Amino acid sequence: MRKNFGAKPYLYPQPVMIIGTYDENGKANAMNAAWGGIVGADEIIIDMSSHKTTDNIMLHKAFTVSVADAEHMTACDYVGLVSGRKEEKKMEKAGFTTTESEFVHAPIINELPLTLECRLKKVIDGGKYLGRIVNVSIDERVLGEDGELSLEKFSPIIFDTVHAGYYRLGERVGNAFKDGAALK
Ligand SMILES: Cc1cc2nc3c(=O)[nH]c(=O)nc-3n(C[C@H](O)[C@H](O)[C@H](O)COP(=O)(O)O)c2cc1C
Repeated sequence: MRKNFGAKPYLYPQPVMIIGTYDENGKANAMNAAWGGIVGADEIIIDMSSHKTTDNIMLHKAFTVSVADAEHMTACDYVGLVSGRKEEKKMEKAGFTTTESEFVHAPIINELPLTLECRLKKVIDGGKYLGRIVNVSIDERVLGEDGELSLEKFSPIIFDTVHAGYYRLGERVGNAFKDGAALK
């Protein structure tokens, strides 16, 4: 037997994305967004209502998407609870420092090791921000011996929409484009 839950945004694993933007004075801001994801090799959509972040994106047509990790979970949740419209010291309180992306006018949060640097392509249906990923930068501390991102060193967190929890990613269970071949 299966139980029906109606129309719900239940998709697992759901990443926790931290959207970085600059305001009109070059002040950095960050917000937490769970509703979004990759929609192509170099495209991402984030579904957002009106926030300081969306004001900033419309201003500079740019944003960064950093992946929240277990180490910075509290700060990542904080930037989803408090608006930069009301809290001047939002970034300081989160303990986040920033460096401007070399590719778009948007801040990279130094503390979060994996960042997608995006140019706004368009806003769909008034609230779905489609960005083109123009660069990805990764802190060397989470790179493995092969020079690529290592999930042994980087601990992204997952958002549980049902019970509003954050979870760690689990262990590797298989090989993509390979293990399925056993059934060919
Ligand atoms: C776990 C979590 C997920 C969130 N996901 C979204 C989202 O997908 N879209 C959205 O508009 N707001 C989302 N929010 C709410 C914003 O992060 C929040 O309103 C934030 O204060 C906006 O900050 P800003 O006004 O400084 O941009 C989420 C918050 C949390 C804690």
